[in-house]
Amino acid sequence: MAVCQPSHYSNELKHADPAEGKEMEVVTFTKDTVLSDVHVRIPHKRHLMVRLNRVGQPVFQTHFKILWENSSLECADEDCITITDNGDTDKQCKEEGSLVLKTTKLFDIQAMENLLDEDGDLEVQRRPQSPSDKHDTRDNERDVVCPTILTIGSEGQIEEEECVNDKDVFKIEHTMATPLEDVGKQIWRGALLLADYILSQRDLFRSCTALELGAGTGLTSIIMATIAKTVYCTDVGDDLLEMCERNVVLNRSFLEQTGGGQIKVKELDWLKNQLCTDPENPYSWTEDDISHFYDHTEVIFAADVFYDDDLTDALFKTLSRVTHAFRNNCVIYLSMERRYNFTVRHMDVTCDAYNHFRNCLNNLETTSNGKQRWSAQEIKPVFPQFFIYEREHLELWKITAVPLT
Ligand SMILES: C[S@@+](CC[C@H](N)C(=O)[O-])C[C@H]1O[C@@H](n2cnc3c(N)ncnc32)[C@H](O)[C@@H]1O
Repeated sequence: MAVCQPSHYSNELKHADPAEGKEMEVVTFTKDTVLSDVHVRIPHKRHLMVRLNRVGQPVFQTHFKILWENSSLECADEDCITITDNGDTDKQCKEEGSLVLKTTKLFDIQAMENLLDEDGDLEVQRRPQSPSDKHDTRDNERDVVCPTILTIGSEGQIEEEECVNDKDVFKIEHTMATPLEDVGKQIWRGALLLADYILSQRDLFRSCTALELGAGTGLTSIIMATIAKTVYCTDVGDDLLEMCERNVVLNRSFLEQTGGGQIKVKELDWLKNQLCTDPENPYSWTEDDISHFYDHTEVIFAADVFYDDDLTDALFKTLSRVTHAFRNNCVIYLSMERRYNFTVRHMDVTCDAYNHFRNCLNNLETTSNGKQRWSAQEIKPVFPQFFIYEREHLELWKITAVPLT
């Protein structure tokens, strides 16, 4: 997560580039804009994100293809396409261990700006089809990540022909640049790391009942639901939960094909001691949900939820509270990204949010609730990679309950 520092510039400025003798654009961020690097790290896309920041938060849909172990990871140059800032198609192929970046197609920024009407609202736009889309089926198979701009509302239904008809492809709606309070609307690498782990340990999660905390777009819950029986996919905020629910609906046929279980999108706020039962809230819990949740949950997972110390404290309290009330012992999986920042307080590069997480983990291990104590182990990220992202600075932790004898 890149949190942008307050800019010196209040507006976009133009500077002369002495080397090239022409005007160069200096892009500026709103002071608390946060960029997820799932999409940002793709070459040239950072520029796009910065521009997106100026036009609000358009909703994108990314198609993720699960790259099963034996899927061909060979990548001929012509299979790998990105779009450059000037809209030209650029071919590239990047290989990192078992990871191959294949096809990524984005609107170029000029095309995107043309999509805005006078009020700055986005008009629905289809991904332009290239002749190879129509004729080269092999190329279609390589659609690994394919963000498409969408609008939500009356025209927000995805039409059948826009959907990729592939049983290994699922679709996630998300934004790409948000203020800190909306980070759940982006997709974070921790979600992909956890999704990889779940897919690599299918027998472990088969038919379980699981809870995801801070699910955001719901990506990891959707992957968990391909294996689990029931997934309680939880977060806070009506618009985020709406986006999450929409992703669940969008992937109904994907989930049916996998023979997976059901996903229940619910509000679970770490800052509250009670589950929400307000009948006016579409994401509240019924009595049946609550008893099923406490009686059956045996796995908790959360991706990239450690970025604010108060929230980290609240999340650990939530873990203690719900697991204490569970009928079954439960295993917790937490993925996180170590984010390094220079701080004036330390006059050094530190990883404060991560250090706080590790302190909370230590505290958890040294306290017991009278019924059980906790033991934490890091799971080294050497399991197969089914998605395209970088694992640098990502960690996965497994916390198990040890009954007190
Ligand atoms: C960085 S996002 C991660 C989203 C998703 N897990 C992923 O990795 O793509 C952090 C998530 O924590 C959620 N969150 C923040 N405060 C919360 C709270 N008090 N209760 C529940 N969820 C919260 C946010 O809404 C957001 O979805």
